[in-house]
Amino acid sequence: MRALGVSGGFGHDAAAAIVVDGTVVVMAEEERLSRRKDAVGEIPVNAIHACLKYAGLSVADIDALCLSWNPAKDPSNHQMQSIATRISSESRLEGLEQRTRVYDHHACHAAAAFLYADVSAPAMCIVADGRGELTSTSVYRVWNGGTELIESSPLVASLGTFYAAATEFCGFRRGGQGKTMGLAAYGEAVDAFPELSVDDLRVDAGRANLMREHDDPTHAHRQMRQDWLDAMVERFGPQRRAQHLTDEFLCGRPDSTFERHHADLAASVQLALERVIVELARNTMHRFPGVQLVFAGGVALNCSLNGRLRSTFPDARLHFNPVPHDAGSALGAAVLATWESGGAVTGISTPYLGIGWSHDQLTTLLNYYGVAAERPTDLSETVADYLADGRTVAWFQGRSEVGPRALGHRSILGRPDLDSMKATMNNKIKRREAWRPLGPSVLDSEMIRLFPRSDTPYMIEAQRMHPALRAEFSSVAHVDGTSRPQSVTDWSDTEQLYPRLLAALRERTGWGLVLNTSFNDFAEPIVHSPIDALRTFFSTPLEALALGPYLLRKSEK
Ligand SMILES: [Fe+2]
Repeated sequence: MRALGVSGGFGHDAAAAIVVDGTVVVMAEEERLSRRKDAVGEIPVNAIHACLKYAGLSVADIDALCLSWNPAKDPSNHQMQSIATRISSESRLEGLEQRTRVYDHHACHAAAAFLYADVSAPAMCIVADGRGELTSTSVYRVWNGGTELIESSPLVASLGTFYAAATEFCGFRRGGQGKTMGLAAYGEAVDAFPELSVDDLRVDAGRANLMREHDDPTHAHRQMRQDWLDAMVERFGPQRRAQHLTDEFLCGRPDSTFERHHADLAASVQLALERVIVELARNTMHRFPGVQLVFAGGVALNCSLNGRLRSTFPDARLHFNPVPHDAGSALGAAVLATWESGGAVTGISTPYLGIGWSHDQLTTLLNYYGVAAERPTDLSETVADYLADGRTVAWFQGRSEVGPRALGHRSILGRPDLDSMKATMNNKIKRREAWRPLGPSVLDSEMIRLFPRSDTPYMIEAQRMHPALRAEFSSVAHVDGTSRPQSVTDWSDTEQLYPRLLAALRERTGWGLVLNTSFNDFAEPIVHSPIDALRTFFSTPLEALALGPYLLRKSEK
């Protein structure tokens, strides 16, 4: 079974993925290729072609075009066949639409999350996002062969929409939920949002649930977002209206200012979300004792929530994954098609499922543009020298990461024990809010020196940094003392460049860690190609770029 999973055509996070006989071959997110953040409403034409090319497959080789939305369960959207037609025509892949299969959106999320768990055993999956077809939070049983929906919550109880309303209140644009989470650490939870409650495995939104009687549940869902926003204004005060700022080079940059009640709202909403999901997890484990638990849907991108789950259930078998968002549903759709054909899938633990470039291709590109670059005999050692000197280095290596976190393949790196490094990253290089938290990559053998847990490879779980070290590593410690570290397997005795870099830093600074933030400019998707890397390198104050085996440097100041 050669399955092409696709999300897109409406919503956000359009993506494509290919699974061949149960093995994940490649996944690509359209925003990285189209360079339009979140790829809202896009057919992932570029991602589909990139995946096919990487997999060495033609359209004739694809057995199933697998879509991660089921129109039969969504009376407001009968367009999936037309989306399949659009995919086929816009991608110029004739005949593909005749092999279309559609799957429930939350089942796709659950299947993708399961890939990153122990696939030899069943799992329970909690899926929470803005909206599936007509559900908002679902609990699935998943095994290496299929899924079973155990319970679901109505659209009007959507936790994703609740959080999106808070994001709007805080003055962040669509998709800015991560900022709301970051802002929460500056506030105090003063309202528990008691109307959000949990009844066994269902989320209840109190008064809003009355709107279930409405003729059109999707209309009720949109109305409920406004209801939440109105309630937030009533209880906390005026919405934040971020000013539009320009700097001396007329580049737009976001307004960092906020008022106390904005942060208090963020903290209150964050705590309410954590309370509800923790209770759902507790109830799920009570009903299905001993089972492994996985989390999916856009809500599962919330690092603070994931950290809370881990600290609340330290002995439970919890699995977090790098693709809980809608892009991951493309991967999940391909997995469901595999199961539907009677196959099984091979579990994965790598986030590096994207596209990469060979050293020869990079050499050709640099020659084509006439860009001077050196080729150090030991790149990790040379870059470690740079970082130890306090410089910023962009790091472009291998296949790109899937999901929103850069994990050492499309990263910007800096020394985390320099007080000025957070301002350098946020204000100068990424031109974003000054208070945005940053995280480190840490050799797993060093994790225990800084954090309670050592196995957090996807930078998606917040942990409390040991108090004595927060001041020393202030650039990667958030105001509440947490951070979201990426644990890096210590393969420093191999050719693996990133662990070798961390080990080289340890020799120079005494610590095997580096500040790691995604390689992109403000409001730009993470760089995809080496051309994107060059463009961002030259349009920001970054001081060096490690592009495959090459090192590019700007002139000394
Ligand atoms: Fe979703």
